[in-house]
Amino acid sequence: MKPERAPAKSGKLSGRLLPDAAARLRARGVEEPELNAQWLLAAALGVERMALLADLSAPVPAAARRRFEETLTLKESGLPLAYILGWQNFRGLKIKVDGRVLVPRPETEELAGLAAEFLKPFKGAVSALDYGAGSGAIGLWLARKFPALEVTAAEKSARAIACARENAAALGLADRITFVRTGTLEGMTGRFDLIVSNPPYIPTRVIGGLSPEVLSEPHMALDGGGDGLDIARMLVALAPGRLKKGGAMLLEVGGGQAKKLLSLMPDRTWTGKKLFKDLNGVERFVFGIKK
Ligand SMILES: C[S@@+](CC[C@H](N)C(=O)[O-])C[C@H]1O[C@@H](n2cnc3c(N)ncnc32)[C@H](O)[C@@H]1O
Repeated sequence: MKPERAPAKSGKLSGRLLPDAAARLRARGVEEPELNAQWLLAAALGVERMALLADLSAPVPAAARRRFEETLTLKESGLPLAYILGWQNFRGLKIKVDGRVLVPRPETEELAGLAAEFLKPFKGAVSALDYGAGSGAIGLWLARKFPALEVTAAEKSARAIACARENAAALGLADRITFVRTGTLEGMTGRFDLIVSNPPYIPTRVIGGLSPEVLSEPHMALDGGGDGLDIARMLVALAPGRLKKGGAMLLEVGGGQAKKLLSLMPDRTWTGKKLFKDLNGVERFVFGIKK
């Protein structure tokens, strides 16, 4: 007589794997451990996270369990979730990310939204410079949203430019973006309707105390020098030379930095100067229009 198949062990059901995984991540101090566990298991199973949650009694095949275990170990070691998954959602765009680039943050989605508000009234050809483009998220999202927008993506890191190029190709936007490798606005040519930037803005002395997740991102994407404002100051000083009259500069900065930056924008050069708060109420975005 054929032996009866043993019932699937409860540990092989997705709903049973998740609590243990979340507990492991929590024990390592990972924020939002349940959410991270869900994303990793969904990726191991090759399904959307919502599909995973809709059927928690689904069995998890051995190969998927192995993938899940591997990625959990990576997460326990402090790797950002987006690096493990290989992508980050940016206002609906799937942006490829890895150790070459910073993982785009929710605040930067807000920055892109403010940039879009400025660009909306323009009719016909219009141009934007995404300075410190990293993965290319801001410029690519704007290019997708505004078909007449010419985007230039400037970046110091060759590795980041390679990643941004891959994103542009994957999103079918390669012919809409010009890439420039540079560490300063000086020497760049052309004039833009908008310069938008999320420059590195963490003060150097703070970097050592950051979480392992943040420290696994490129140092060049984090370190803004002594007070964190080296690159932002350079942009404020040189942007007027690269903006058209009536063109705008829009920068993201760290908490407590925005007012200082605004004070460096003289009234003889800038009009409509404004600070915008992020969704957490932090003065995060510096805006001005070139006279
Ligand atoms: C905070 S990251 C922002 C990346 C991307 N724009 C985003 O928001 O996700 C800053 C980027 O600026 C680049 N960067 C650093 N110093 C730079 C400089 N002097 N000139 C141009 N890019 C620079 C870094 O390599 C990094 O990609």
